[in-house]
Amino acid sequence: MTFTLRNLYEADILQVSEIEREAFPTIWPRTSFKRDLTNRRISYLVAALLHPPEAVEEPEEEPIHPFLGREPIPLRLIRNFRDRLWPQGVPHKPTNDTPLGFVSVWFITEEAHITAIAVKEAWRGQGLGELLLIGAIETAMHRKSRVVTLEVRVSNVSAISLYEKYSFKRVGTRKGYYTDNRESAGIMTTEPIHGLSYQQRFSELREAYLKRRGSVEMSLKLASA
Ligand SMILES: CC(C)(COP(=O)(O)OP(=O)(O)OC[C@H]1O[C@@H](n2cnc3c(N)ncnc32)[C@H](O)[C@@H]1OP(=O)(O)O)[C@@H](O)C(=O)NCCC(=O)NCCS
Repeated sequence: MTFTLRNLYEADILQVSEIEREAFPTIWPRTSFKRDLTNRRISYLVAALLHPPEAVEEPEEEPIHPFLGREPIPLRLIRNFRDRLWPQGVPHKPTNDTPLGFVSVWFITEEAHITAIAVKEAWRGQGLGELLLIGAIETAMHRKSRVVTLEVRVSNVSAISLYEKYSFKRVGTRKGYYTDNRESAGIMTTEPIHGLSYQQRFSELREAYLKRRGSVEMSLKLASA
């Protein structure tokens, strides 16, 4: 299995919205990924399962319709028209993968603020959350943010452990922050990410991650601030 870390495309929005709904069922209003895609102050990254190239190739044989035998005439006409327009085949969405998680980062003055990070439930525990966090920190470094910050439910042991691994420290509490159950949020932040000690620790963690996880493709296009 090969995973990839890349930017979010419009074609991903349905799948990423489902991941958001599953991970944060009470969040309202839901994120408008489409609107945010054009906002230069927000970055969305996606962790996805990469498919082998043959999995997205067009079938060579004309498909046989389950009830009508050969493909029905209207469909055949559409196919002929399409083949004339795109003799090389219909353009696919720009990726041949399935999104399994996403992270969103807002750039506010000197802070990169992680507003959400989520992995599909069935795919948790396989390194995708860490991959997304690495991508978020790298993006923040590229955008010259000073620190990375976030809020997390005080009971969210797995997320807190992930953040602590990347040296986030709890610097405050927002009491009763979450409106669904009045749970408090811990405010967590890194030290300055351009400091030598953080850079060194981050690059060691990133290297260890890639060594441990093996098949991961990093294909982020990092936009400047
Ligand atoms: C938090 C979340 C993104 C982690 O993603 P994940 O893919 O399961 O995490 P990974 O497999 O990459 O694990 C990375 C690190 O996270 C921590 N972690 C992950 N699962 C854990 C668990 N069940 N218990 C304790 N720590 C855990 C560990 O520190 C782990 O590092 P390790 O592998 O060296 O032990 C995922 O659990 C999730 O989507 N949760 C629901 C949404 C959510 O709560 N998001 C956070 C909002 S602030």
